[in-house]
Amino acid sequence: MIVQLNGKELANNIYDKLKENLNLIEHENNITLVVIQIGNNEASNVYIKNKKKACEKVGINFQHYKFSEDTKFDDAIQFIEKINAEPFVTGIIVQKPLPEHLEGIEQFISPEKDVDGFTFENLGKLVSGYNEIIPCTPSGILDLFNYYNIDLKGKNIVIIGRSNIVGKPMALAALNKDATITICHSKTKNLKFYTSNADIVIVAIGKANYIDSSYLTSKCMCIIDVGINKVDGKLCGDCNYNDIVEYWEKLEETGYNETRFITPVPGGVGPLTVANLISNTVTQALNKNFIKD
Ligand code: GUN
Repeated sequence: MIVQLNGKELANNIYDKLKENLNLIEHENNITLVVIQIGNNEASNVYIKNKKKACEKVGINFQHYKFSEDTKFDDAIQFIEKINAEPFVTGIIVQKPLPEHLEGIEQFISPEKDVDGFTFENLGKLVSGYNEIIPCTPSGILDLFNYYNIDLKGKNIVIIGRSNIVGKPMALAALNKDATITICHSKTKNLKFYTSNADIVIVAIGKANYIDSSYLTSKCMCIIDVGINKVDGKLCGDCNYNDIVEYWEKLEETGYNETRFITPVPGGVGPLTVANLISNTVTQALNKNFIKD
């Protein structure tokens, strides 16, 4: 059987649960997510719109501050520090990608208001396994594993992509679940050597349709595609979905009866990244006792 992992459905379940939890407490509209955007990246504009919609869905406040590409480092820091001090702001993110001269400004977000989990303090907690805030995309991927009962214990997971947003935190989060992790990247020699031994492949390289069935063997039970690319105006992932599914169908015809899982693009990982941002925002708000109960 081939199962398409439905991120949209799971994201909606997360929103319903968050709404239910928020209804039980008197939060007096005190939960506020601030998104700081610098520049006018087209994809970021879309992601931020989705984050706003998600906040509205669960009934928390959303503020979006947008600055020009040539914002000075000191001015950006000063703004973050001002927002850190706002008592009703419970979550802050700096939308990536950033202009090069501003790389690292997210480190000035207070760790207790960091809802991306990108600050050194929150990443350090993830390294040691004492984390509460996991970066939103890896956290969403863990939700999928959990929802579809995909046990990570002892599994060979190959992660393709070593970004601070996805690859590295994903490796730590999966390691904390007792998986064996290999991180591959653009300088990896003979990528197929690694993917051919994988039980699970997580792809986050930003190259449309790059990973196809030629990278896989019958061992592979699950493909998680983090990519969001546009080809001829149409969204597609980093994996060649149709080619992989066809390969799996052929395996089934030749007697391989295992269940295999794959995320679609869109509707796979993407909605869960946003849902986990909202979930992290609620978690941080509860931690801060901004909410009466
Ligand atoms: N850009 C793409 N994904 C993310 C994310 O999870 N957080 C932030 N801040 N920027 C992103």
